[in-house]
Amino acid sequence: MGRFPEAISFAPGAPHPDTLPDADLQRYTDRYLAHLRERGADPERARRTLFEYGPSRGLVGDVVGEALGRDHGIACAPEDLVITVGAQEAMLLVLRALFASPGQVLAVANPCFVGITGAARLLDLDVVPVDETDQGVDLDGLARACRAARQAGRSVRALYVAPDFSNPGGGRMSLDCRHRLLELAEREDFLVLEDNAYGFTAGAGTELPPLKALDTRRRVVHIGTFAKVAFPGARVGYVVADQRVATGGGGTRPLAAELATLKTMVTVNTSPLAQAVIAGMLLEHGGSLVELSRRKAELYQRNLTALTEALDEQLGAAGAPPGITWNRPEGGFFVRVQLPVRADAHLLEVSAAKYGVLWTPMDQFYLDGAGDTQIRLSCSYLDRAGIEEGVRRLAAFLTKEIRS
Ligand SMILES: Cc1ncc(COP(=O)(O)O)c(C=O)c1O
Repeated sequence: MGRFPEAISFAPGAPHPDTLPDADLQRYTDRYLAHLRERGADPERARRTLFEYGPSRGLVGDVVGEALGRDHGIACAPEDLVITVGAQEAMLLVLRALFASPGQVLAVANPCFVGITGAARLLDLDVVPVDETDQGVDLDGLARACRAARQAGRSVRALYVAPDFSNPGGGRMSLDCRHRLLELAEREDFLVLEDNAYGFTAGAGTELPPLKALDTRRRVVHIGTFAKVAFPGARVGYVVADQRVATGGGGTRPLAAELATLKTMVTVNTSPLAQAVIAGMLLEHGGSLVELSRRKAELYQRNLTALTEALDEQLGAAGAPPGITWNRPEGGFFVRVQLPVRADAHLLEVSAAKYGVLWTPMDQFYLDGAGDTQIRLSCSYLDRAGIEEGVRRLAAFLTKEIRS
């Protein structure tokens, strides 16, 4: 985007600029301070929490925990919640806390968000891909991966999955697959790391319960972020972890407590200022994640529809180059397009320089070398007019370059 500033970019999964808060950040901070006073805090003591170091598990767990219960049916006790520096830190901490021996393997839905595979690489963890399907993940493939690990004297410790509109695949896990995944997790004794970054984009009335809301046996570690429902610059995320993990001395301790201890060695605590702003925003929306994200969810739904309609119009009609297909996600930011040619850096260069349109090659999201003829289009950063013009350019590019 830096090299081709004039190009229309379907690359970033960044929030639309119109969704950035228009209110003064001080107002949100004041709202949170009022909340602390309402709960009995001394005003001067409350004010000082913004400027001092804070508890490593976070300051605003009460506000976030109540919202998770009310909006998503995720019952979480305050001691099960850790506020993190984005979902990214949550992923790193969770992997670090759960993976104790080299025999443990992380399974991931393939294609996969690079944030989790990158964190796994940083920790030298072995990762095994399991295909993402239209219904969620390939449960037979996952069961096979568990068996193969066992036969090799190893074990699948956890599966990473984003059930509500994955990045980059755009898939959504069916309710039946959610239930069967939880049964498999119990049978094969692994945990599920649920990333809920895009759940809020489901159309009104079409929401499915997060895995954590269906989890009766403490199999699910739920990771969330305020990057999309509020704004990414705050760098505030959270993790619900109601499991116990083994300690060196043969005992166990709560996973959330372990995460908080690890966090003291990584970021010490999430910025109290950022937490106060986010909690204040949430409180201004009645303490509801759904209310906080309602306008954004509508905007992204409109954009996604605009993107698939433009693809239908430009690349679905007679005369369009053959062999181009795309999926139709019901939410999230991303559409995946299948091309009849390799979608590599060279093709992207041509697309940017000659046709003024950018996209993301999909091969980097696959762990098994697949996806080299796919591209990811993000609808989040553009307006309808930009999306339509971008797809027109994409169609011109594909028509000319694929045929010639
Ligand atoms: C799947 C997924 N998880 C999490 C995040 C957000 O992470 P963070 O809160 O660290 O910004 C993103 C952002 O792109 C994402 O795509």
